[in-house]
Amino acid sequence: MADEASGSGADLAISHLRAGYGHLDILHDVSLTVRRGEFVTLLGPNGAGKSTLLKTLYGMTTHKAGSIRWKGREVAGGKPRAFLAEGFGYVPQGRCNFPTMSVHENLEMAAYTLKDGDLEGERNHVYELFPILRKRRNEFAGNLSGGEQQLLEMAMAVLRRPEILLVDEPSAGLAPQAITLVFDELKRLHEGGRTVLLVEQNTRKAMAAAGRVVVMRLGHVIWDSPTADLSHAALGQLFMTGKVEDPSVEPPVHGIH
Ligand SMILES: Nc1ncnc2c1ncn2[C@@H]1O[C@H](COP(=O)(O)OP(=O)(O)OP(=O)(O)O)[C@@H](O)[C@H]1O
Ligand SMILES: [Mg+2]
Repeated sequence: MADEASGSGADLAISHLRAGYGHLDILHDVSLTVRRGEFVTLLGPNGAGKSTLLKTLYGMTTHKAGSIRWKGREVAGGKPRAFLAEGFGYVPQGRCNFPTMSVHENLEMAAYTLKDGDLEGERNHVYELFPILRKRRNEFAGNLSGGEQQLLEMAMAVLRRPEILLVDEPSAGLAPQAITLVFDELKRLHEGGRTVLLVEQNTRKAMAAAGRVVVMRLGHVIWDSPTADLSHAALGQLFMTGKVEDPSVEPPVHGIH
C-alpha cells in the first residue's frame, strides 16, 4: 500500500514567536521554517524550550506574540483540536498510551477524533506501517517493550494521517536496539511523505536521520543549518556556550552522545 501523507503544502513558518505558561515566557522571539517533506531535528540542552515549542505547535501553551503560519494561514493561539484538524500530529515526551487496554483498543482511542470514522481502514493502514503492532494487537499496551510502546505512540498519531509529525524524545529510556527500531520507523514515516520535526537527546542518531538541525538554548533558536554543515563537536560547543567558532570543527567534544 502506498504510504503517502494526505494533503499538500505542509509549510510551517514560525515568526518572532513568544510563548510560555501563564505569565511565564519560555520561548523568546523564535523564528523557524519547516518545508513540506523536510526532516528537521530540534536539539538543545535541558530546559532550552524544545518541548515547549512542540507544545506551542499543538496549542498547549500560552501564546503571547508572533506568528505561526501553516500553509499560509495563521494558526497561532489555536486549541489542540484545531491543530489536530489542521494536520499536526503530536507524539509527546514520555509514553502516555492506555496501559490496561490492548494495542487494538489504544488505536481505537486514537481514532476518536477522526471525522469520517473509518476506524478499520485507518487501523489497517497503521498495521501495514507497523506490522509489529499487528502481531501484538491483543496485548495490553502496558505489557509492550519500551520500543514497542513508543511505536504505538507514533502509530496513534499517524492513524490520524498528520501532514507534520511533532515527535518529542522518542528514544528516551530505550535500549539501543529499540532506539534503532524507533529511528528506522521515523525514517520510514518521513520517506512515506510526512514532514517531521523531531526533538531528541540522542543527537548523533537525530543528526544522522534529519536533513536540517535547529539548536535552541534558553528559549532562543541559536542555530539553523543543514545537518552536514554542523559537526558533532561544534554542536557540543553550541550546547555549552551558545556559540561556535568553526561549525565543521572535529574531533568530538565529550559529553554529547
Ligand atoms: N508546565 C510548565 N509550567 C511552567 N514552566 C514549565 C512547564 N513546562 C516546562 N516549563 C519550563 O520551561 C522551560 C523549558 O522547558 P522544556 O520542557 O520546554 O525544555 P526542553 O528543552 O524540552 O528540556 P528537556 O531536554 O529537559 O526535555 C524550563 O525552564 C521548564 O522548567
Ligand atoms: Mg523536553
